[in-house]
Parts: sequence; structure tokens; C-alpha cells
Amino acid sequence: MCGIVAALAARNVQGILLEGLKRLEYRGYDSAGMAVMESGALMRQRAQGKVAALEEKLAERSLTGSIGIAHTRWATHGKPSEVNAHPHLAGDRVAIVHNGIIENFEPLKRELESDGVVFESETDTEVVAHLIDRAFATCHDLLAAVQSVLARIDGAYALAVMHVDAPREIVGARKGSPLVVGVGIDENFLASDTLALLQVTDRFVYLREGDVVRLSARHGIEVLTADGEPAARDVQVYEHGDSAASRGDYRHFMLKEIHEQPAVIAATLEGRLSGSHVLESSFGVGARALFERVKQVHIIACGTSYHAGMVARYWLEKLAGIPTTVEVASEYRYRDVVVPENTLFVTLSQSGETADTLAALRYATSRADDLTEQDGQGYLATLAICNVPGSSLTRESDLSLMTQAGPEIGVASTKAFTTQLVALMLLTLALRRSRGDEREAALVQALRGLPGVLDQALAMDGPIAALSEAFAEKHHALFLGRGTQYPIALEGALKLKEISYIHAEAYPAGELKHGPLALVDADMPVIAVAPNDELLEKLKSNLQEVRARGGELFVFADEGVALTAADSLRVLHVPAVDEFLAPIVYTLPLQLLSYHVAVLKGTDVDQPRNLAKSVTVE
Ligand code: G6P
Repeated sequence: MCGIVAALAARNVQGILLEGLKRLEYRGYDSAGMAVMESGALMRQRAQGKVAALEEKLAERSLTGSIGIAHTRWATHGKPSEVNAHPHLAGDRVAIVHNGIIENFEPLKRELESDGVVFESETDTEVVAHLIDRAFATCHDLLAAVQSVLARIDGAYALAVMHVDAPREIVGARKGSPLVVGVGIDENFLASDTLALLQVTDRFVYLREGDVVRLSARHGIEVLTADGEPAARDVQVYEHGDSAASRGDYRHFMLKEIHEQPAVIAATLEGRLSGSHVLESSFGVGARALFERVKQVHIIACGTSYHAGMVARYWLEKLAGIPTTVEVASEYRYRDVVVPENTLFVTLSQSGETADTLAALRYATSRADDLTEQDGQGYLATLAICNVPGSSLTRESDLSLMTQAGPEIGVASTKAFTTQLVALMLLTLALRRSRGDEREAALVQALRGLPGVLDQALAMDGPIAALSEAFAEKHHALFLGRGTQYPIALEGALKLKEISYIHAEAYPAGELKHGPLALVDADMPVIAVAPNDELLEKLKSNLQEVRARGGELFVFADEGVALTAADSLRVLHVPAVDEFLAPIVYTLPLQLLSYHVAVLKGTDVDQPRNLAKSVTVE
């Protein structure tokens, strides 16, 4: 939610800030802005809409200076407009960019207004600008001014601030929203993620909760804890290169990311399998001993990651015999959760920064402490399955398993989801009690062959592009699946609604007759995911119920499924695979379907309206 980037260099920073914003645009894209210190004065350009609109303005009147801050916004307080776009100023002395929400901004705003401050925007951020302006007027030190204001604000933030009277400094802070420091040679940077800064450096300091940082020409990088104590933070080298930021020959990032799945799944498996079993050490030091004690698993996630958790529940219960619950983080965090003995708490998150998931982890950790005090019980351990190294979720969990999807830019998640599924299969096998049996050996072998099967699934692109024409004029669609394919149907429906704006719902096929069947007619395409598994015959009966009501059916099935295409029934063959891995393989054609429908409809595939990739607000 919102991307921020800041630069303090010896060269003009407009180009660096602009490129940083383009790379952060996945975090929000309803307005963008930049402020640069030009000959001792703060100069600002802002535009409603995407970064490209700001770029046009900068082409007319560029900003020139070696210190600046910039922002791309996903609106929370105040509608998307130029006046609400960041950076916000106070008295032409302070400029600030902010990601997050200041929860107590209303009383603070009233206080400032009664003191004569006139606000330009409807944002919570502008309050912080004015508070810093006042604090600086007293202490004449930007770092001290920011620290004193942070003590007064509640909520989540990552921010970067400049002041005309501290012309060679930028102060940043983070609490609840991500912020990294990019370390250069005689130049330093701040950004919401590393991707924004890979254009200028591969060395980063990952700030911790509550950290405040000052970049200055005189002192370089100074990090202080929330208590104001100097903090030593390691500089880490990012080793994955910078190619991920480009679309290559693909028309959209989403299509590129769909096609990367065989390679990133191979990378996720690399070094984690030995012979015919999974290496528990992949999950961190001590994982093996911990896993032996696990009697129950609680999985928490949001959005697409939640769907991955739903698949894992079937796997963990069937293959490992471990009772498992799966819940969206925004519900879990406000419940009085009962934690059975020896429960492993698992979070799934592409970004590792999703506000609700992070809050759920913190709640689980605090709950564990409470329960431990009461009756000796609590969570056994916390495990994060995550795609971003150094993210808050991985840092705050006992164990972690990194998916190796690489940066995912398309807002609709694709490769992050399938690599999560692979990671969850690794977890399932690691938790399985009966080690070394034929089932485990067969699954490990099937995992090794999975990238090849996914390559075959991608070859369905042509037929799926042709099929997508049947959807472009439709307003609704229904997805059906059973067992592990029910969450895949949910994910297929989510993809379609996210990027093509077609209202899509998913049901477990057995529930069809309990309501949704009433909606079925020729205008409601029904998509069924039908691998050749033990539930196939039951699913076939459900499909007959649709056909009998004149519904138009599109069935994704493997060749072994005896279904003959007919007028109202189109069958697309998906490559066969071990039934436990079928949810991973069947995801790809559904991703391709939503992609092609969106392209036909002419929507913004990579940046669908109203959405953002990283949701760092509640
Ligand atoms: C947003 C994204 C989704 C993602 C969800 C959870 O809604 O648009 O693609 O699934 O957040 O994100 P996470 O990073 O925690 O997986």
C-alpha cells in the first residue's frame, strides 16, 4: 500500500526517484509525486493517476537536485487526487512521504487547526508534516523533531522526511510498514522494497520495527531504535540480480510470471530434497526436533495465499494425519483462539508484510506467552512461508521457508501461489510420520518432475486464448471443484474477478444444488476443475446438474477423464500428474484463462483498479 523512495546523492536524483516509483507502482497507483531540494528550496511535482502521469509533468518541468523523496499512492484517507498526492508539505519547509495509516490523526488535526494551521489535503499524512514543522522550529534538528512526533502518533507508518533547514539530510522511520536502506558509495537511499533500489545498489539494511534512520552527507547512515538508542544493523547483499524488474518480451508482467512457474518451482525445490525425502533443515535450525512434536497446524494468510493454505489442509490431514485449520488473518487476529497442545502456527505470505498476517503472527506470539503463563500451553513454534527475504514475517517467525518465486510484480498473484503450494507440500512431507514409505518416494519423484508437467500445461495457452472469447461479454462466472480443487476453483474465480472485473464465484461442486444452481443459465459460464481423482464421479454428476439447466460448461480435465465435448460442454485437457500435485498443475490454465479474458476486455492486467499488491494497512 503506497510505495516510497528517497535518495541522498551527489548527482541529480530525479531519474532514480522516478525509476524507483515505477518499480514500486505495484503497491498503489492512484497518484504519484516527488519533492526535490532545489537550491535550498523544496520543489514538488504531483499528478493524479499512474507514475506515467507524473513523468509527463516532469518532462514539462523537471526537478533538479541531489536530495529528494517520492511516493506512489493507494488511497486510504482522502480520495485519489492531486491535492491528496504525496509528498505533503508544511509551510514549504517540510516535505514528507508516508505509507500506512495514522490512526489518531483526527484529534491531532483538530489540535493543529485550533492553533491556526490550514490543511491543504484530506490526508492523515499532512498532520505529521505540520507536527514535524513545529517540532523542528523548537529543536532545529530533523532527527529529534521526527522522533518527538513519532512519540505522538499511533498507527502504521513508513515515512521519509526532508526539511529546508537540514538541506543534506533525509530522516526515515518504520513501524508496521516496510522500509529498507539502500547503501551506495557516497550516496544512500530509502525505499519500501529492495526492488525499487536495485537500479542503484545491491546492498541493503533492513530496518526493524520502530527504527528511525538518518541519511546525511556528513554521517552516512545512522539507525536508532524506537527508544533512541544507536542500533547496529548489518548490510546485506541482494544476490538475485535485477532482471526481475523487466517484462522482457512479454506483454505483461503477469504473463511473464505465469511462464516463469516451471523455473521458480524448480528453484523452490532445489536443495530441499534428498533421495526420496524432504530435508527438514530447509525450514531452519531445530526444525526436525520441533516437527516431531507437532500434533496440530494452524495456517493463517490473506488473499491468494489463503487459498494455498486451504489446499495444504487437505494434504496435511490426508498425507500427514495432522489436524489442520486455515483462516484468513483478518478474522483470526480478533478471535479468542484456543490453541491445542503442540500446535505449529504457519503464516503464508508472498510479501511478508501484509498487515493482517503480521498482526496475526504477533497475536499468536503474544497468545502463546499468555497461554504458557496460564497452563503451560501455547504455540509450539511459528513458521513463515514467504517470498521476500528479510521481510518482517520471516524475521519475526521461529522458522521460515523461502519460496524462490523471485519478485512478483503483477498485482494478481501467480507464481507466488504455486511456489507456496510446493513449499506446503514440502512441509506436509516433512511432518509426515511414516517416513520413507512408497507414497513419500512417489511424491518426491513427482515433485522433481513437476516443472516438466507445468511446461506442458503452459502449452495450453493457445486453446485457452481461443476459449477466453466465450467469457469476454459475460458478467458472471461460476467455478466448481471438489477436494483440493475447491481452493483452486476459488483461486480461479479470484483471478478472473481481480483482472477482468467479471463477477466470479467458486463453490465446492457438492454445494451447487444448495443455491448457486438457481443462477445457472446460458449467460452464466460454469468452469469445472476435474482431475482424475477419487471425487471425479461425484463431480461428473454435479456437471450433469448444470447441463440439465442449460448451463454452458467448460471443463478442465486430464485425458483419462471420459468426458465427450458437446454443444454446451467444452473439455480442455490438462497434463496428468500425481493426484496430490494436480492442484498446482490445474492452477496454470485458470491463470491463463483470466489473463486472456482480461486482455480481450482491455483492462489493466498488471495493475487492476482499486487493488494493490502489498496490503500494509488493516
Ligand atoms: C493482496 C494482493 C494479493 C495477495 C494478498 C496477500 O491482496 O493483491 O495478490 O494474495 O494481498 O498478500 P501476501 O503478500 O500476504 O501473500
